[in-house]
Amino acid sequence: MKAAYYARFGGAELLNVGDLPEPELAPGEVLIRVRAAGVNPVDWKIRQGQLKAVLPYAFPIIPGWDAAGEVAAVGEGVKGLAPGMRVMACTKKPLVQWGACAEYVTVPAAAAIHTPQSLDDTQAAALPVAGLTAWQALRDFARIEAGQTVLIHGAAGGVGSLAVGIARERGASVIGTASPANGDYLRELGADSVIDYGAPDLKAGVLAVAPEGVDMVLDTIGGETLELSYALVKAGGTLVSLCDQPDHDQCAHKDLAATRLSVRPDGGQLAELAGLVASGAVSLPEIETLPLERIAEAHRRSEAGHVRGKLVLTIS
Ligand SMILES: NC(=O)c1ccc[n+]([C@@H]2O[C@H](COP(=O)([O-])OP(=O)(O)OC[C@H]3O[C@@H](n4cnc5c(N)ncnc54)[C@H](OP(=O)(O)O)[C@@H]3O)[C@@H](O)[C@H]2O)c1
Repeated sequence: MKAAYYARFGGAELLNVGDLPEPELAPGEVLIRVRAAGVNPVDWKIRQGQLKAVLPYAFPIIPGWDAAGEVAAVGEGVKGLAPGMRVMACTKKPLVQWGACAEYVTVPAAAAIHTPQSLDDTQAAALPVAGLTAWQALRDFARIEAGQTVLIHGAAGGVGSLAVGIARERGASVIGTASPANGDYLRELGADSVIDYGAPDLKAGVLAVAPEGVDMVLDTIGGETLELSYALVKAGGTLVSLCDQPDHDQCAHKDLAATRLSVRPDGGQLAELAGLVASGAVSLPEIETLPLERIAEAHRRSEAGHVRGKLVLTIS
C-alpha cells in the first residue's frame, strides 16, 4: 500500500512516501481504506524522538492518529460495521507504528464511528485527536456548564478551535488567546473575547474581561503560558494542560482540579462530537488540505506553530 513513513527519528526530510505492506487485521478490529488523515503536533513530536521514552514504538513508523475513509474489511467478532461504510477514527494505539498516513490502517472497532453524512472525509479527519482532546478536557474533566467562563490558550489551533465550539455549545463564555490575525476567525467560531497573546500584559488583558478569574483554563501552549494561568483561574476552578505538568503547589494553593491530559480514543465521545459538528452546533475548524505526498511540508508547517484550524492530508 502507499504510505508515508520514516525509519529513524529526526527531521521532516526523513519522511518518505512509498510502498509498505498492509497492516494485519486482528479480531475485533476494522481495516479502514483511508481517504484523509489529520496532521497533529504529536506526529512531529514522535518523529523527532521527543516521546520515545513514553510511547513504545517500532520502525518503520507510519505517522498519523486521525483517519477518515471507508471500511475495507472487518475482523472476527466485529458487529455494526461492514465493508463500504464510511468511518472516522482516532488511530492512537499502545504501539506507535501503523498510523493513518497510509492507504490502510487498522483500529479497534470501538474507536471507529460512522461518519455523519454531512461531513466529507477531510472534515471528518480534522476531528478525532483535536476534538477528543477538547472534549475530554472540557466535558470529561472540567464538566463545564452554562454560565461558566473558559480561557483557551492557543484558541486558533486544532484543539483550541474545537474547544471554542464545545464550550459555547455547553453555554459557557469563551476567552481565547491568539495573534491578532486570528481574532475574526475566533469570533466566527463563537469566542466572546479574543486576547492577543503577544500583548505586553496578557494577564491584565484576561482579567479586564474576567476580573474574578475564569472557571477553567485549557492550556495548549505550556511554559510561561501555563505559569501565568494559575493567577487567571478562580480558586476551586479547573486547569487542563496539554503540554506541561501543572505545578502541584500552585494548584493546591488555589484548590484547583488540575491535570495534564493525555488524549485517548473513544468512539462514543467522537460520535457525540461528530453529531454536534454535523448539526452545526459545534463549528468545524478551518481546514487546509494537502496531498499525502506533501506530508513533509505539512509537518514543517505544524512545527512552526501557527496553523489555523487543521491541516489534513488526502490519500488518493
Ligand atoms: N496531551 C495530549 O493528549 C494532547 C492532545 C492534543 C494536542 N496536544 C498538544 O497541544 C498543543 C496544541 O495542539 P493543536 O493541535 O491545537 O496545535 P496547533 O493546531 O498546531 O496549534 C497552532 C496554534 O497555536 C497558536 N499559538 C502559537 N503560540 C501561541 C501562544 N503563545 N499563545 C496562544 N496561541 C499560540 C497559533 O496561533 P497564532 O497563529 O495566532 O500564533 C496556532 O493557531 C500541541 O503542543 C499538541 O502536541 C496534546
